Amino acid sequence: MDGCRFSLLVLLIVLAAVLIGLASAHPGPEEEMEIEYNYGSNLGSNKWGNLHQHYETCLSGKMQSPIDIDKNDAVLNETLGSLIRKYTSANATLVNHIYSVGVLFEEDFGELVIDGRIYTLKQMHWHTPSEHQINGVRYDAELHLVHQAYDDGIAVVAILYQLGRDDPLVSALKNKLEELADDDKCKKEERAEIPLGKFDSKLIKIKPRKYYRYLGSLTTPPCTEYVVWTVLARVRTISNSQVEMLRAPLDKPYKKNARPVQVLNGRKIQAYYDQITNPLGNE
Ligand SMILES: *[C@@H]1O[C@H](CO)[C@@H](O)[C@H](O)[C@H]1NC(C)=O
Ligand SMILES: *[C@@H]1O[C@H](CO)[C@@H](O)[C@H](O)[C@H]1NC(C)=O
Repeated sequence: MDGCRFSLLVLLIVLAAVLIGLASAHPGPEEEMEIEYNYGSNLGSNKWGNLHQHYETCLSGKMQSPIDIDKNDAVLNETLGSLIRKYTSANATLVNHIYSVGVLFEEDFGELVIDGRIYTLKQMHWHTPSEHQINGVRYDAELHLVHQAYDDGIAVVAILYQLGRDDPLVSALKNKLEELADDDKCKKEERAEIPLGKFDSKLIKIKPRKYYRYLGSLTTPPCTEYVVWTVLARVRTISNSQVEMLRAPLDKPYKKNARPVQVLNGRKIQAYYDQITNPLGNE
């Protein structure tokens, strides 16, 4: 174990001790237990449920994510309605979360409305390869836009990417991602952070023609359930060098940070598209 890993571990233990002290009954995504886990062989996803009692749901949960979306099994539900997202532009921070690279929105950035419930955008992060599959196909990357309601309810919008042309969002972050990769993670802070200044919401305000909806969980420990998932049907493109850019700041056991697909356990996947403007249900 080198000095960097050691200080990180000490930090995680201290953080866990503090959190246990606080004994929060419903840990939200910001205050979750930081027991070390990864995607490697020793602390990998099939072991998460045994790493700590707070991660038990990863093993015993009956509505876990990600899943494979079988298009033929998805049931059209017109009541879902088109996706309502109101984002503004505000300061944001690029962060190396150790298990993924992401962007934090600490200022009020905007909201997602599902069934009349308001969820505020808190953060987004990438997984490479994708976590969700469509018709058995795992794609090359997946972006998760994580929203939280006032009562801690979570709603995630997922966008899938296959190798191809550059993704405009990652292009806009190119210099900062390179800076993050160069940053010495051991310096002073527990995690490398790079201010992005004002982040343009146009980069993430995609209006989908079609999406899938199901009830699942966080895809990382503590695997908390009752997460409302919205997976956009249209697979977008990302270039190979951009996938490498998203992986560069991460340590080896986190570079491929996709949890395997989980069993449905009878859950129904719903689909929505506007039958008037998109009568064929195109992606
Ligand atoms: C269709 O969506 C609405 C709104 O989310 C929901 O209340 C309803 O239960 C769904 N219908 C089915 C059959 O799942
Ligand atoms: C946003 O960030 C800039 C520097 O990047 C700073 O000058 C400004 O005060 C920040 N705005 C808010 C509302 O914090």
